[in-house]
Amino acid sequence: MQLLGLDSLAVVLFVLAAAVAQDASASGTCMGDCDLHPSLLERVRKDVAWLDEAGGITDAMIRNISLVCDAKIKHQCNVKAVRMMIKDGEIYLNSLHPDWRLGPPELLGFLLELYETSKMYRLPDLEFAYNGDDDASSPIFDWIDRSSLRVTFHGGPFPLLAWSKSNKSMVQLVPYSGAFRCTDDSFDNLLARLDEIRRVAWPEKRTVAFGRWNEFCAQYMYEMPTLPSGESFICPRQWLPTLSEQHHEVMDVGAMGGTLRGQRVSAVPLMHQNAYKYLVSTDGWAISSKFDKYLLLGSTIIKAQSSRYGFYYDALRQDEHYVAAMNTSRDDILGVIEWLKSHDVEAERMAVATQQFAVRHLHRNARLCYYRTLMTELGKRMRFTPDCSQRKLCLPLGRFLDYLTTKRETAHACRYQEVLVRYGTGRGTPAYDSFSDEAIKELLADPKYWPRDTDIPPLPNEPYFPGAPRRLRRR
Ligand SMILES: *[C@@H]1O[C@H](CO)[C@@H](O)[C@H](O)[C@H]1NC(C)=O
Ligand SMILES: *[C@@H]1O[C@H](CO)[C@@H](O)[C@H](O)[C@H]1NC(C)=O
Ligand SMILES: *[C@@H]1O[C@H](CO)[C@@H](O)[C@H](O)[C@H]1NC(C)=O
Repeated sequence: MQLLGLDSLAVVLFVLAAAVAQDASASGTCMGDCDLHPSLLERVRKDVAWLDEAGGITDAMIRNISLVCDAKIKHQCNVKAVRMMIKDGEIYLNSLHPDWRLGPPELLGFLLELYETSKMYRLPDLEFAYNGDDDASSPIFDWIDRSSLRVTFHGGPFPLLAWSKSNKSMVQLVPYSGAFRCTDDSFDNLLARLDEIRRVAWPEKRTVAFGRWNEFCAQYMYEMPTLPSGESFICPRQWLPTLSEQHHEVMDVGAMGGTLRGQRVSAVPLMHQNAYKYLVSTDGWAISSKFDKYLLLGSTIIKAQSSRYGFYYDALRQDEHYVAAMNTSRDDILGVIEWLKSHDVEAERMAVATQQFAVRHLHRNARLCYYRTLMTELGKRMRFTPDCSQRKLCLPLGRFLDYLTTKRETAHACRYQEVLVRYGTGRGTPAYDSFSDEAIKELLADPKYWPRDTDIPPLPNEPYFPGAPRRLRRR
């Protein structure tokens, strides 16, 4: 402490006080409380259930994650499963995203939120991987046969955290922490501005269904079952803007960069979207990263059907927290809007219930509680003691986060200091000091960096990717 000047000490104290104040206001709970919504607890249980059938998490299972990349290390395979270890309460990275992939908030938000969890709670010794890709649940990790625990991936199933999945996926769901805490319009920032959001009273909102998105139409959209109307499902991000064009008196839904009634469609900040009574949510490559935030806006959410879901979706009830669209027919949304217009009290009640749900169950401490619960459940299933001496790379997470704060592309991608000032980075410990900035930089510079922790030889070529880019079926 005597090395710190008074000024810097004041800054540290200020940041600390601000962090504490924000926690208290955002959560309404004491730090350390961990009381999950029953549906979220159930989600964790469902997601880890197959591990019991597999006899727990074994060293062979973890070593096999190395087989996600074949000999050629193609298709950004090293982005789909970042390997991690928790040992004596410290988190380590056993593989990395390449440099050029470090910027989007998915991985960074996850790392920071998990780091914070590890400082608030004692996490068990554990190994697992995280899918930081933007589609989150790759079909590689889908069950071929759930009952015999066969997955597409030839190395077998393994614990894999991701923020979006379908019923076919082996993964364990976690929050989309990057969207919750990193971006300017993050959930946490909106939550802090709730008074402002609530200033637009229900009767002042426009009686229009509003939606804005990027036109991402992923392969899974084309695999949705036929609608009860007999129509085939169609990518909502493409279809609903078309419908909006014909029904502009009740819909203002457009894909960014496209046109709507002759006007170019541009983005509308989330803080302005509460001006509409109804918000239309559609999924893209994975679950919508904006859905969590819509919940806070005090509007009724119309959610287009999807096979993808996030960690808390089970707790949301249809017609109580949102209304479904593209569920009975392609244009059932028109009937839904009609119904909402003629049931204004019910619509408002839903909007209020949704906001309350988000305020109560999705704030930062609740998310950390979710992480802790999942990690604890995974920890109970560990059948070996992990150790850094058994892995090619063991980079302390605090060290890596500290490095990210110095790198131009990542320095402002998330508010690291909220966590790092409070809990430290481990600087000065031997594990920290064994990695220089230059050493980390060098590892990241290799787009094919993939430390192998198995003796099983890699396949000569990835068998999982059909070779067709996923954007192929966009039109
Ligand atoms: C690891 O991968 C090999 C090669 O595909 C497979 O034979 C083995 O069953 C896998 N082990 C586990 C534990 O999944
Ligand atoms: C996933 O499976 C559950 C339970 O079997 C079911 O209730 C749910 O509707 C399924 N979800 C989707 C998106 O198909
Ligand atoms: C879809 O419509 C059916 C009735 O056709 C209804 O039972 C179901 O709850 C609706 N919602 C979803 C999300 O499937």
